[in-house]
Amino acid sequence: MFGFGTARILAWIALIAATHAAPLDLQGRGAATLPSIDPFYAVPVDVDSSAPGAILKHRPPPAQIAAFGLAPVNLQASHQILYRTNDNFGNATATVVTVLIPHNADLSKVLSYQVAQDSACKDCAPSYALQLASATIGSLGTLVTQAELLLVEAALNRGWVVILPDHEGPNAAFLANRQAGQATLDGVRAALSSGSFTGISKDATVALWGYSGGSLASGWAAELQPTYAPELKIAGAALGGTVPNITTVLSEINKSAFAGIIPSGIVGLANQYPQVNSVLEKHVLPKYQSLFNKVRNQCLVADVTDFLFKDVLAMLDDPSLPFTDPDLVRIQNDNALGKATPKIPLYVYKSTGDELSPVSETDALVKKYCGGGASVEYVRDILSEHGSLAITGAVKALAWLIDVLDEGKSQKGCSTSTVISSLLDPSALEIIPGFIVDALLDLLGSPVGPIVIG
Ligand SMILES: *[C@@H]1O[C@H](CO)[C@@H](O)[C@H](O)[C@H]1NC(C)=O
Ligand SMILES: *[C@@H]1O[C@H](CO)[C@@H](O)[C@H](O)[C@H]1NC(C)=O
Ligand SMILES: *[C@@H]1O[C@H](CO)[C@@H](O)[C@H](O)[C@H]1NC(C)=O
Repeated sequence: MFGFGTARILAWIALIAATHAAPLDLQGRGAATLPSIDPFYAVPVDVDSSAPGAILKHRPPPAQIAAFGLAPVNLQASHQILYRTNDNFGNATATVVTVLIPHNADLSKVLSYQVAQDSACKDCAPSYALQLASATIGSLGTLVTQAELLLVEAALNRGWVVILPDHEGPNAAFLANRQAGQATLDGVRAALSSGSFTGISKDATVALWGYSGGSLASGWAAELQPTYAPELKIAGAALGGTVPNITTVLSEINKSAFAGIIPSGIVGLANQYPQVNSVLEKHVLPKYQSLFNKVRNQCLVADVTDFLFKDVLAMLDDPSLPFTDPDLVRIQNDNALGKATPKIPLYVYKSTGDELSPVSETDALVKKYCGGGASVEYVRDILSEHGSLAITGAVKALAWLIDVLDEGKSQKGCSTSTVISSLLDPSALEIIPGFIVDALLDLLGSPVGPIVIG
């Protein structure tokens, strides 16, 4: 019922392709200024004189947070904060976190939601994309997806403050996952010290949530927290559609509907690693150079459309290079999950049929975490795929987050269950407002829904 057959996939592809036939005109779509030309985003030259998490600048978003057109969540306030963090090499840098405060907010509850930007273009950063209207299909190109917005909306509806870090950093270094984890933790630090203008309590309870690309940032944050931010008390992290190993994803998605994630991942890494950039310059066949370069200036939906079902690896002069070049192999492994055991309790949800990253790798990751003494509730979901579980798994993930954020429950130890569908849990359905459930189900049935979460 919730699976996505080939016919369904082809239907949405046809629609997305038709809508995105022309290159996306990011500039034309909102009153906000693109991050690439907005001085607010500039990394200060003396950034290393501030501590990680320090607030460097803040402002109200220049354009209205326009994403919540679907349902009646009105924000009491919103803020953008530029804060100090570290890149993958440990060099000082700065990025932006968006703070959303609902009416009747409980300022002692903060959810850090990591968006699956999955793009190597800084103009697709959530801080920018959140300012655009979600009503038009075109805005999907900026990649704060409809589905993710509904999850954020459900969290705001709980009265939680929601923060969304631009965890790819100032250069859109997609897959530079150490940076993503650090940016997530430093975004929490910045939010907790922003009380003078946001009202957030400095000792607020914090939880993390992310799916797919967002689970990489969240999972890395969980692994890094004991060493990078030991002072932060994080109540729990919900990680969905986990992607423990980048290398495997390359061979899984080459020539598939998700093939566009390969160039955005390679260019994302090139935005951090000079070695990857030189591989791009030397080894992408000349006739594909301009196609590869397009991903520097567009968001995930356009990437997916441009590379749909293409043999992306065959665009390299040696298609096996990502699996054989010592630098590329090392860099992929350096950015894989499983480097340390999280102390934060985790909720991990994963489709047994995940076509991006095989469930066996998440089984192994959870086993490794549990062997190291972590607390993990692991739900394996049968009636789903990578895209659809982002939606069908969300309600149960939210129920778990309510337990840790609102009820102060924290489970000890590990449990694994394999369920037919996480959505068929009636207790879970009660905790999410009906209009959001309806909108989520609409997305499942709509041709433009799940694919956009990569
Ligand atoms: C960043 O770190 C790398 C590796 O440690 C170093 O080689 C490089 O010079 C640093 N760059 C800056 C701008 O500090
Ligand atoms: C990822 O998977 C590849 C095989 O696809 C393997 O060679 C590599 O060691 C794995 N990396 C990590 C960090 O487990
Ligand atoms: C890319 O994917 C296609 C389809 O799965 C496969 O035939 C090809 O061998 C893959 N290339 C590499 C280098 O894995």
